[in-house]
Amino acid sequence: MAATDPLPGSASLARQARWLEAYRPGLRVAEQGTVVAVGDGIIWVRGLPSAAMDDLLALSEGSTALVFHLGRDLLGAILLKQSPALSAGTVAHVSGLRLSIAVGDGLLGRVIDPLGAPLDGLAPPRATARGAIDAPSPPIVARDFVNEALYTGSKIVDSMIPIGKGQRQLLIGDNGLGKTAFALDTVINQKGKGVYCVYVIVGQKRSSVVSVIETLRNAGALAHSTVLVAEASVLPGLKYLAPFAGCAVAEAWMRQGRDTLVVYDDLSTHARTYRELSLLLRRPPGREAYPGDIFYLHSRLLERSTHLNAAQGGGSMTALPIIETELGEIATYIPTNLISITDGQIYFEQRLFAAGFLPAIDVTKSVSRIGGNAQDPAVKREAGRLKLDYLQFLELEIFTRFGARLEASMEAKIQRGRMLRDILKQDRLTPWAIEAQFLWMVAFNDGLLDGVATEALPALLAALPARAAAGGLTLDTARERWIQVATAWIQEAKG
Ligand SMILES: Nc1ncnc2c1ncn2[C@@H]1O[C@H](COP(=O)(O)OP(=O)(O)OP(=O)(O)O)[C@@H](O)[C@H]1O
Ligand SMILES: [Mg+2]
Repeated sequence: MAATDPLPGSASLARQARWLEAYRPGLRVAEQGTVVAVGDGIIWVRGLPSAAMDDLLALSEGSTALVFHLGRDLLGAILLKQSPALSAGTVAHVSGLRLSIAVGDGLLGRVIDPLGAPLDGLAPPRATARGAIDAPSPPIVARDFVNEALYTGSKIVDSMIPIGKGQRQLLIGDNGLGKTAFALDTVINQKGKGVYCVYVIVGQKRSSVVSVIETLRNAGALAHSTVLVAEASVLPGLKYLAPFAGCAVAEAWMRQGRDTLVVYDDLSTHARTYRELSLLLRRPPGREAYPGDIFYLHSRLLERSTHLNAAQGGGSMTALPIIETELGEIATYIPTNLISITDGQIYFEQRLFAAGFLPAIDVTKSVSRIGGNAQDPAVKREAGRLKLDYLQFLELEIFTRFGARLEASMEAKIQRGRMLRDILKQDRLTPWAIEAQFLWMVAFNDGLLDGVATEALPALLAALPARAAAGGLTLDTARERWIQVATAWIQEAKG
């Protein structure tokens, strides 16, 4: 105790004396490897026979690398940190550590790199724990069905391609069609809903990274989000790690019983990085020069997204992986892999974008395999009718292109379809609450909107979200009450 201690620090001196007394000299064996080559973000090392895959190597001048390839004499490792002094001849040791990242609420509102270092110029995030970057996915017995809706705020998705908490929904399409915009809108729509979001950016240029962060900040969505960035110019090893690191951050919240959403923007770049690393490490290429285990890699990542059952805290991780296609081709290797791994896809179409239909989502090529079960029953009832009407209209519309004369009933259907298409158009950064969406669905299905002129529609729709909120109705309210509100809304706008 300090008060009775004659000499401050004598306790530690006594401890050292005891350690010295018990000390017996002996041989300690440590393996020491040597770097034989450095380049393109990878190193080759000789002399570490006991190193295993995914071991972290500590290099004597301060760099770190991850064991990625084991050969007979040499091992290949991907650099995660590279100091300028790294060269052939540098000494390497197996560090004995596994790769992990700081997790916890201290990461909210922060921008970090895949190793957890801050990129926003602030102090390192206050971490409550560390999460393994490569962790096994939850076993089947720990999982529950996807049974609660995750609202994106997008009219077209929440009605016809609904997503549930714990679902993995692919965003797929050519470049520049609004995939990132859609993912950002979804993150923004989680504001105030208790869903923590992780936005992972892989291999994008600085300007795109800044625009994502600014969009989230301006929308007040950074407070419930973490942005994890591996921009185009960083080491390929970091780009390879980024999705797993982001997943680990979301996973920690999920295990605390929270609902989380993670966006991987995008996995095409991730796959290309992995191909690059694999070819540099002389792994055999397979289809389209990708190594065969890219499928394993992406499925292992997405299997970590799930809805845990009540015994496990009931948390969930919804995943929105993004894939970029070329010329709309979804049958190439990486897209087909991801389509088979995920629970559905939202397809962005060039033709729609060019025609000014935004968001450019093609309902006929999009599917949500499990989200329907999670949709609120009232919404599901309305949306079911709507979707049928819309798909029928899209087929009918093809005939009108040939100038065929149609029956009056057909003509009416086409008119209704055109109106529906106009309603489904939505600017970015304008998410709609589910109550507002329900209101237009009821109004449309009951024919209350029939006869409204196309020019009058935008003003009518602009007034709707406020109207729905003021009504104070919930999805459990009787349909008649909703119809009353809808009628009043349309009357008011007309009058
Ligand atoms: N609903 C929308 N309303 C208006 N503009 C939109 C909408 N969705 C996307 N855009 C615009 O389309 C452009 C492309 O969007 P975005 O960058 O999200 O596409 P992307 O598919 O992520 O592209 P990339 O493949 O380059 O990452 C942006 O200028 C965006 O503002
Ligand atoms: Mg994008």
